[in-house]
Amino acid sequence: MSLDPALETILPRTAGATAQGHLTLGGCDAVDLAREFGTPLYAFDEVELREGAREWLTAFRSSYPETTVVYAAKAYLGRAVAALFAEEGLSLDVASGGELAVARAASFPMERVYVHGNNKSPQELREALAAGVGHVVVDNFREAVLLNEIAAGMGKRQPVLLRVSPNVDPHTHQHITTGTLDSKFGVPIATGQAEEAVQSLASSPGLELAGLHAHIGSQIFEVEPFQQTCKILIEFAARLKHRHRFPLLSLGGGFAAQYLRDAPAPSRAEYAEAIVLTLKESCEAYELPPPRLVVEPGRSLVARAGVALYSVGARKEIPGVRTYVAVDGGMADNVRPALYGAAYEAVVANRLNEEGPRERVTIAGKYCESGDILVRDADLPKLWAEDVLAIPVAGAYSLPLASNYNASLRPAVVFVKDGRARLVRRRETYDDLLRCEIDNGSAD
Ligand SMILES: Cc1ncc(COP(=O)(O)O)c(C=O)c1O
Repeated sequence: MSLDPALETILPRTAGATAQGHLTLGGCDAVDLAREFGTPLYAFDEVELREGAREWLTAFRSSYPETTVVYAAKAYLGRAVAALFAEEGLSLDVASGGELAVARAASFPMERVYVHGNNKSPQELREALAAGVGHVVVDNFREAVLLNEIAAGMGKRQPVLLRVSPNVDPHTHQHITTGTLDSKFGVPIATGQAEEAVQSLASSPGLELAGLHAHIGSQIFEVEPFQQTCKILIEFAARLKHRHRFPLLSLGGGFAAQYLRDAPAPSRAEYAEAIVLTLKESCEAYELPPPRLVVEPGRSLVARAGVALYSVGARKEIPGVRTYVAVDGGMADNVRPALYGAAYEAVVANRLNEEGPRERVTIAGKYCESGDILVRDADLPKLWAEDVLAIPVAGAYSLPLASNYNASLRPAVVFVKDGRARLVRRRETYDDLLRCEIDNGSAD
C-alpha cells in the first residue's frame, strides 16, 4: 500500500505503509515499534538525518565550498545523534556545559564545536577550553573579559566569534525571535557597542577574534531576513576592515521546517542560493575577501526525521462543542503547542489509508493543564482506545524541552533504519525520578 502523497512532505523520506495500512518508518512498522518499546515513543529515521545533513552540505558547498555546516544541538541532542552528525562531517553548536558533556560522551571532535550562550558561567567556559573546543561565540562584554582571563590563565589563545545583534526582524514567533535590537542575545551593531566589543576582543591576549556571528530567530520561512543579516554583517566588517579581519562569518540557524501539509518551507537549496548570492555580492561591493561561511541549522536537520508515537486512551464528547481524545503523552514530552501555539498534524498509524467518515477532534495530552493540547482540530477516522497516533515532524525542540511534569517519565527514543530499530535512549523509570532525591525529610 502506498502512502498518501500529501503526507510525504511531513513524514521522513523512508516512511511507507504496510498492506494492512500501518505506517512504516525506516522500514519498521510503527505499530510494532509502539508495542515493543511502549508509548510515548520518539522514532528517528536515520536516513532522513543523514540525507538532511548531506543536502545542507551540498546546498552550500556546490556554490560556496568554504562553508561549515554546524548542527545546533539544542534542537535535539543525544549521543547517537551527535555521533551520526559527526560521521556526516557536521560541526556542533552547544549552548551549555551539559550539551558539551553529551558531545564529549559521543566523542564529537572538539575542534568542530562552537560554544554559545548569553550567560556562560566561568565553569562552563573553563570546561569548554579544557575540552579544546574550536570556537567560543562571545555574547557580551563580561564574557569577553572572563574568557580572556580564563584563556590566559590556561596559557591558551582561544579562537572566538563575536555574536552581534543585527536588528533584523525575521517575521517569526516573538518567543523565537533573537536578532532584533531588544533582545538578550548579542552585542548590538546599531548602538555602536559591537564595534567596542570588537576592539575589546582584538586587544585581549587570550583571545583570537576569528569572526562575527548572528542568529536572528527560528522557523523563518523567508530568505530575505538571512540576506539582510548577511549584508549588515558584511557592511559592519567592511567598516572595520582597515583595523580588523573577520575570516569567519556565521549566520546562525533558523531555517524553517514544514510541520503542516499546506505550509511548505523553502528548500535547503533555496536558502543556500539566496545567502551565497548575497554574500558574494556584498563582499564584492565592499571589496572584502570572501570569508568562510558558517550556518547552524538545528530544527531543519532533525524535525522531519522524528515521529512521536502515542497510544490513544480516553475520549470526551461535549455535544455541540468539541470532542477531546487523549493520548498517553502531551506537554511533558512536547510542550511546543502549549508554549507558543505550535501546530502539528496527526496520523492514525494503525489505520493509515482508511476511507470513510472522519471526525474533527482535539488531541489532548494526559497532564494536569488545560493547555495540554497537542493538536487542536484534527480531522481523523474515529479514534478508539489503543489506536496508535503518530505526530509527524516531532524531532526538534520536543525532547530537549521535555519535563517530568506530573512526575512523568521521559519517553524512549529509537533510531530506525532498514527495518531495524535501535533503542538509543530508554524510557525513564520511577527510580530515575528519585535519583536526585537525597533527603527524605524524616528525622533520624
Ligand atoms: C545560536 C543559535 N544557532 C542556531 C540555532 C538553531 O536554530 P534552528 O533550530 O531554528 O535552526 C539556534 C536556536 O535557537 C541558536 O540559538
